[in-house]
Amino acid sequence: MAKTTTATLQKMKNNGEKIAMITAYDASFAQLFEQQGADIILVGDSLGMVVQGQTDTVPVTNAEVAYHTRCVRAGASKPLLIADMPFMTYATADDAMKNAAQLMQAGAEMVKVEGGDWLVDTVRTLTKRGIAVCAHLGLTPQSVRKLGGFKMQGKQAEEAKQMIADAKALEDAGAQLLVLECVPAELAKEITQSIRIPTIGIGAGRDTDGQVLVMHDIFGISTGYIPRFSKNFLNETGRMDTAIAKYVQDVKMNKFPTDEHILA
Ligand code: KIV
Repeated sequence: MAKTTTATLQKMKNNGEKIAMITAYDASFAQLFEQQGADIILVGDSLGMVVQGQTDTVPVTNAEVAYHTRCVRAGASKPLLIADMPFMTYATADDAMKNAAQLMQAGAEMVKVEGGDWLVDTVRTLTKRGIAVCAHLGLTPQSVRKLGGFKMQGKQAEEAKQMIADAKALEDAGAQLLVLECVPAELAKEITQSIRIPTIGIGAGRDTDGQVLVMHDIFGISTGYIPRFSKNFLNETGRMDTAIAKYVQDVKMNKFPTDEHILA
């Protein structure tokens, strides 16, 4: 398996080849996901929920993401490694530079930030200084206490219009990847077709350039609620390695998500 870089991802989008991304938080699972062909591993701040047992991602710190990034880096070198910037660690461009540096030094190759137009200057600041950025629009879990729950975003025409404008502005600022979480499939398709950089969907239909799932949801072992857009692949295959292989293969062949995993 060749090393995935930002150039690889762009080539995959240009060639219509789907991108398989999965979260990981430690070396052993990272190694398994690399062996099964994952293109990208994300050290998500979802670790607050699935590793720490919190009710949302707000309590997660930069030092914790850096620690898990170091663990994942030790287990896998081929997939592109993205580290999530936690709540309030990129509230200003100065904070973003300092905290992104800590994640990069822990082994990240790209950092992910949640938010729209207010982040444009920060994304420009980071990318101009050589840090690759993944933007994240739609349901942004760090804002869940303000949003009033884990709800689909972009259903209203005005919201959808704003999300398309945000995606274009973030791309223009230098973002090289965009996660779209819990947005209507038609909107995710429109955004994917309107920008040049690859999009990765989670609860965003089948027409994004790739998919991401939280590893604990793939194994059906998450604490608390399991979102309807995710799928327990372990149930289907009975083994962890084949569950991940099936997830990667289904993403690549555009067989996941199926209609039952697409939110309306
Ligand atoms: O934190 C995370 O795992 C994420 C994914 C759900 C995209 O942001």
